[in-house]
Amino acid sequence: MKFDEKVCILGIESSCDDTAAAIWRNGRIRSNVRSVQIAHRDYGGVVPELASRKHMDFIYPVVRQALKDADIDTGSIDGIAFTKGPGLLGSLMVGTSFAKSLSLAWDKPLLGVHHMRAHVLSHLIDPPHPAFPFLCLTVSGGHTQIIRVDEPMKMTVLGETRDDAAGEAFDKAGKMMGLHYPSGPEIDRLAEQCRPVYEFPKPQLEELDFSFSGLKTAFLYFLQDRKKEQADFIERERNNLCASIRQTIVEILIEKLERAIQQTDIHEVAIAGGVSANTLLRSELTELGERLGCNTYIPDFQYCTDNAAMIAMAGYFKYRAKEFDSLETAPSARLPFSP
Ligand code: KG4
Ligand code: ZN
Repeated sequence: MKFDEKVCILGIESSCDDTAAAIWRNGRIRSNVRSVQIAHRDYGGVVPELASRKHMDFIYPVVRQALKDADIDTGSIDGIAFTKGPGLLGSLMVGTSFAKSLSLAWDKPLLGVHHMRAHVLSHLIDPPHPAFPFLCLTVSGGHTQIIRVDEPMKMTVLGETRDDAAGEAFDKAGKMMGLHYPSGPEIDRLAEQCRPVYEFPKPQLEELDFSFSGLKTAFLYFLQDRKKEQADFIERERNNLCASIRQTIVEILIEKLERAIQQTDIHEVAIAGGVSANTLLRSELTELGERLGCNTYIPDFQYCTDNAAMIAMAGYFKYRAKEFDSLETAPSARLPFSP
């Protein structure tokens, strides 16, 4: 992939509970700063009002640090990319307003980015880049999608979740076991110490859509039944439970991805989003690629969970296509994937 060497983009991400800023310049990421909000840990999920307030505290120092790390002066910035949606409206508003103020002060164009498209484009940050067309399984806390990518700006959703997202399934299962939010990484870590011993049902959906709400309910009833027999069942069996629920979620994802490869005959396959940090998903993708003769692409850990490097990358492609937003632009909690 050839990049315009001169273009410099500031990316700002504030869609959920991470405040992040990054600089793209001379065809690569120069700085990538992220402030993780730990204030939500004990609530079992992100508290929207708290998240907006924390974004307001962090956004200025985070952007300033990104500029400092990249060692650039503000005059060399060509465009300001920000997450326009989807996400929590209050959180999105903080990033959008900040981006607008900078756009006005520096007289630089605004580039409103779709968060899920940016997760996919994180694969174009560092080589090796997947060749076009490629498939991307995008798995985060709010979304689960299989996307066909023909060009950086031309993507089609082939399948998506009808209810909960894969990350949400991890987080809700973790909450039932008394783990802190977000529990995906903790389940992953505990699962590494055990083997899956319990089986949970997998949805039998046609085509390439996903569903995780049935699994969530089955897991809840299973825990309730076992606790009646043994009050400390969860404490005793926590690692086995983590290994079992992780196994089921990853099997659901990989089976759909395999079907997508067979249906499309596309053999360049990537994963993206927070759940792509999962150890089992990463190894199962590699195994799937070897079995089906596909080239597989797994993002660097810093580009799996929410980050601003992917927003700067997506902003670069919008800048190149001259797709600018006006100062009247507004964020959208449910920004459609395709306009
Ligand atoms: O992409 P992301 O950072 O934010 C959203 O756009 O939602 O994804 C966050 C999700 C959370 O649900 C978190 O539990 C999950 O990614 N996650 C993981 C792992 N690391 C993060 N899930 C399973 N295994 C992991 N290692
Ligand atoms: Zn995300």
